[in-house]
Amino acid sequence: MKNDKPSGPPTLQARLGIAHYLPKLWKINLTVVSLTAGALLVWPVLDTGHSRRGSWSGGPVTNHHRLLEQTCSSCHPVAFSAVPDQSCTECHEVRAHADTVAPIVKKHPELGERCVNCHKEHHDEESLIPTRSILCTECHNRINELSPETDQPNFNSFLQHPEFSVQVWMGEPPELRKVQLGEPGLRSVTQLKFSHARHLTLADNPLQCANCHEFGDHLVKPVTFLEHCESCHDLKFDETPDSPTIPHRAADHVYDFVRWEVTRQRVILGDKAALNKAAIASESRDAEAALFTQGGECVRCHDVHEVADADDNQSSFRIEPPAPTSSMSSAVFDHQGHRFTPCEQCHQGIRDSLSAGDLLLPSISVCRDCHADPGTPGKTDSHCLQCHNYHQLAH
Ligand code: HEC
Ligand code: HEC
Ligand code: HEC
Ligand code: HEC
Ligand code: HEC
Ligand code: HEC
Ligand code: HEC
Ligand code: HEC
Ligand code: HEC
Ligand code: HEC
Repeated sequence: MKNDKPSGPPTLQARLGIAHYLPKLWKINLTVVSLTAGALLVWPVLDTGHSRRGSWSGGPVTNHHRLLEQTCSSCHPVAFSAVPDQSCTECHEVRAHADTVAPIVKKHPELGERCVNCHKEHHDEESLIPTRSILCTECHNRINELSPETDQPNFNSFLQHPEFSVQVWMGEPPELRKVQLGEPGLRSVTQLKFSHARHLTLADNPLQCANCHEFGDHLVKPVTFLEHCESCHDLKFDETPDSPTIPHRAADHVYDFVRWEVTRQRVILGDKAALNKAAIASESRDAEAALFTQGGECVRCHDVHEVADADDNQSSFRIEPPAPTSSMSSAVFDHQGHRFTPCEQCHQGIRDSLSAGDLLLPSISVCRDCHADPGTPGKTDSHCLQCHNYHQLAH
């Protein structure tokens, strides 16, 4: 097998921890202190003389493990024999790749799925983290046979990789369904009304994507009313110039606010008779309905549901949070690394989109314009690990 030479851009190296720095000293100190204590008891080679140890040497270990190097027993409980997974799991707790992997590995010893199959040691400066597709395709190219229940196809490279699929809310009542991207007209259920087309073509001041979408570490930050909408859509209680602002909160809070505001205005009018509880309640219900029904402030952006038999302190309406947008949970994608590619190259149709429910995530064909496995002239070399983790499948 080839060496695990790290490849790819620095961002990838950072994500996979492919760095040749020493780990935090306190971590190493702790492990080394406890290990040397243990090792002197269980590692005869260290006690019985350097000559034998000298003849049994694997060469320098990676920087991450450098301070363990002299305590051979931490990885080799028995000299001259293979490193068992238990040696590694004593220090490292890692998440299983998939629930079905353990039984597969048990049934198929020929896969050689031990920790050290992927994480080589004694390669000195080279990475502990592998970046070769073969480590993945040895299962994924025969996944149907290894895991008969799977709905995933067998494939050998990014060229044969299945079309991306994402989980989205669909149907009535909404349930999470897995859909394949690439088909035009895919839609998900959303409680939010929003038209990209309209906001990107506003007459005097068309908005840019960056007005609403900012990117953090791997993640797209959520769009919020207060940060991204309020500047143009303030929530005024009435038409008066000094109208108070309605809090952008759950309907019950808004109803509290409405009752308080109705009472306040009656106090200002100084009309004692009008401070009658029943009159306030009735006016509050009317004012509330004006916000939550056709033409009201809240209906502008939300689907509103009526609440049957709301009690006196409850709103007669309900707004559900917008369903979270779908995401590609088993792959890693980083917008920062693609900031020189126009948004529309991957989110085709966004400028014509009239609804927040349009699903405009890129199909795999978009990625294949620039990614190939193995790389070709003009296309970046894309092994599985460029886009996936092994233990931590999700972001
Ligand atoms: C951080 C864990 C770790 C430490 C510490 C470590 N090794 Fe290793 N060593 C490995 C791994 C992993 C392999 C590959 C073994 C395998 O494929 O089963 C290996 C392989 C070897 C081999 C080759 C054996 C073979 O069967 O091919 C020798 C020799 C060896 N180690 C000696 C040592 C000695 C001597 C020390 C102490 C000075 C030491 N190792 C410390 C992890 C470690
Ligand atoms: C005595 C405890 C100990 C043992 C045994 C051990 N490791 Fe480690 N390992 C560490 C420490 C400490 C680090 C550095 C952690 C860090 O950088 O935060 C590390 C780092 C790593 C990393 C790199 C993590 C990263 O963030 O890049 C990998 C991969 C790894 N070990 C795999 C293994 C495997 C596989 C084995 C078994 C052959 C093994 N380790 C055995 C303590 C151990
Ligand atoms: C099929 C290959 C493969 C096998 C088998 C494997 N790993 Fe990994 N491991 C990886 C890859 C790829 C990464 C880097 C991406 C990631 O974090 O998932 C990694 C990362 C790690 C890390 C650093 C990140 C973390 O999750 O803490 C540790 C520690 C680690 N592996 C330990 C182990 C141990 C212990 C075993 C055995 C129980 C094991 N690995 C088996 C491929 C493998
Ligand atoms: C030991 C066999 C084996 C190896 C090696 C392996 N996989 Fe898998 N992988 C599986 C199985 C089994 C599943 C679950 C399939 C299912 O349940 O439909 C899976 C699922 C996945 C999924 C989908 C997970 C999800 O969220 O639905 C991804 C992505 C994946 N593997 C990527 C990789 C990558 C990348 C590697 C190489 C680092 C790799 N696999 C190595 C067996 C393996
Ligand atoms: C005025 C604010 C605003 C602007 C400007 C804007 N967006 Fe959005 N975008 C939103 C909102 C609101 C959503 C829906 C979020 C939700 O449902 O949680 C959204 C959702 C999306 C989605 C996810 C839709 C899906 O497929 O599920 C993408 C992709 C997107 N926008 C791309 C863009 C791009 C590209 C631009 C520039 C051409 C842009 N947006 C400009 C507010 C904006
Ligand atoms: C730069 C100012 C501006 C921002 C910021 C803005 N909008 Fe708008 N929005 C407008 C204008 C102006 C209209 C009316 C456009 C038209 O009718 O042609 C409008 C119309 C709408 C409509 C249609 C309303 C109706 O009465 O028909 C909805 C829904 C909407 N916006 C939602 C949002 C959401 C959600 C956000 C935040 C993610 C947002 N807007 C951010 C300026 C803005
Ligand atoms: C201009 C568009 C707009 C208007 C008008 C608007 N909202 Fe929203 N609302 C949003 C957006 C965008 C979100 C999702 C992001 C967030 O939570 O800010 C949202 C989310 C919500 C949520 C869910 C918060 C959560 O995550 O639990 C509630 C409840 C809500 N709005 C209530 C209201 C009420 C009540 C009104 C009327 C007073 C109203 N909204 C008017 C745009 C609007
Ligand atoms: C190279 C392709 C590519 C480019 C260029 C790109 N995106 Fe994306 N975008 C994606 C992918 C893939 C996802 C799904 C990632 C995920 O869910 O982890 C996504 C998701 C999103 C989402 C939805 C986030 C969610 O949680 O569903 C928004 C919003 C978005 N992109 C906006 C933008 C904007 C704005 C630009 C331009 C500045 C842009 N994108 C450029 C590929 C791209
Ligand atoms: C316009 C060309 C282009 C398109 C389209 C494109 N990529 Fe990339 N991508 C690149 C380049 C160039 C790199 C950096 C590769 C390198 O330096 O080795 C990269 C790197 C990456 C990385 C590694 C992380 C990083 O930020 O460096 C991931 C993951 C990735 N792309 C996923 C995707 C996915 C998924 C798609 C399709 C939705 C896609 N890319 C579409 C050009 C593109
Ligand atoms: C350029 C980025 C990229 C590369 C390279 C890549 N994948 Fe993926 N892969 C993705 C994205 C994006 C998804 C969809 C994400 C999701 O389902 O959450 C995905 C989905 C998957 C799935 C789930 C398929 C399903 O139907 O549920 C598996 C399994 C998988 N990839 C394995 C691999 C293997 C094995 C390799 C190497 C041969 C590989 N991928 C290479 C980006 C990539």
